[in-house]
Amino acid sequence: MDSFAFIIHPIDPKRDVKRKFPFLGKVLNAPLINFFSTFFPPVYLSEIQNITSESTGKTIKGWLIACPLTSQRMVELPEWVAYRKIVQTGRLAERLGADIVGLGAFTAVVGDGGITVAKRLDIPVTTGNSYTIATAIQSIHKAAKLMNIEVSEATAAVVGATGSIGEVCAALLAEEVARLFLIGRTEKKLHELHSRLEGNSSAQLVVSTDLNSLWEADLILTVTSSVQAIVQPQHLRPGSVICDVARPRDVSEAIAKERDDVLVIDGGVVDVPGLVNFNFDFGFPPGKAYACMAETIALALEGKFEDYSLGKKSNLRQVREIAAIADKHGFKLSGFRSFERPITDMQIKTIRENAKRK
Ligand SMILES: NC(=O)c1ccc[n+]([C@@H]2O[C@H](COP(=O)([O-])OP(=O)(O)OC[C@H]3O[C@@H](n4cnc5c(N)ncnc54)[C@H](OP(=O)(O)O)[C@@H]3O)[C@@H](O)[C@H]2O)c1
Repeated sequence: MDSFAFIIHPIDPKRDVKRKFPFLGKVLNAPLINFFSTFFPPVYLSEIQNITSESTGKTIKGWLIACPLTSQRMVELPEWVAYRKIVQTGRLAERLGADIVGLGAFTAVVGDGGITVAKRLDIPVTTGNSYTIATAIQSIHKAAKLMNIEVSEATAAVVGATGSIGEVCAALLAEEVARLFLIGRTEKKLHELHSRLEGNSSAQLVVSTDLNSLWEADLILTVTSSVQAIVQPQHLRPGSVICDVARPRDVSEAIAKERDDVLVIDGGVVDVPGLVNFNFDFGFPPGKAYACMAETIALALEGKFEDYSLGKKSNLRQVREIAAIADKHGFKLSGFRSFERPITDMQIKTIRENAKRK
């Protein structure tokens, strides 16, 4: 039977360690977990069962495995240390018999975005970024409709626009919206991106390193590799939509408490075909996966065992190809969730009304 493995790692140290090691998660504080994660070996989490393609009937199995490094550790350590630990985790996938391995969250962000890891492993590797891009754009469209925002007349913003996911999202939105803010932290990279997009963009492009520019935007896609939440309640205008694709999150939880007039949605959440059982709680309800996991699963269902989304430059051809493959096998964008809770049509209506009042 064809198979895959997917690597996750602790994002919120205490919460995530507790999911596998309740005692350690209880007694260790976050700085200690950060510290010890450097020395911990890769961890087997579970076997994933019952994934069946809706179109071909093919069934596959998979494994969830963990690279122990926390996001914080991954950005602090020299790249070679992080690569070594990710490769060790990939070797576990090989020993389990996986035909392809997906890199989750910061295991895909660190260094060159999977290229070195793929070179060192004997099985193909993907970061899952292509399907993440496809679903992020689908989410923005769906949310715009629900909030009565006309995409072609809207001002949009991509935060982390110079990143692997951000750049292609920006390129796609630049063909659709009226004005697009390219937001990041390195001005030079943003200007280079501006020059690359200019020729193919129907939108007016604006470069900014200031998150206060978000106040101008109706539609926001945020996808940085910041370890801390960066988008705060004062940044958002009433009635706007913000799709947070980043893990750890870019959007501060304070927004959930203080802003009842903006729609915050978790980006990259997908329903997996079949009666999938992950046999491990990674924070999603049954049947749902991150888009990057879904890309790995879709490639296994397709029998496409080759290195896929790798490196710091995503490409549009792969975004379109993986969206078609995922569609064919029955993956679907999930109903909206906000801060890991489902969000109903009634709640969205209330957000719209609150925005109008303001
Ligand atoms: N939901 C999902 O299924 C899913 C799937 C894949 C990835 N992700 C998440 O998506 C995020 C981005 O991944 P990626 O592969 O695109 O990473 P990447 O290529 O490293 O890009 C990250 C971008 O964020 C920018 N950035 C970092 N810190 C920032 C800050 N404090 N303020 C503003 N911009 C900042 C970087 O700017 P500089 O270049 O100037 O440093 C860069 O443009 C990560 O959080 C990852 O875990 C989620």
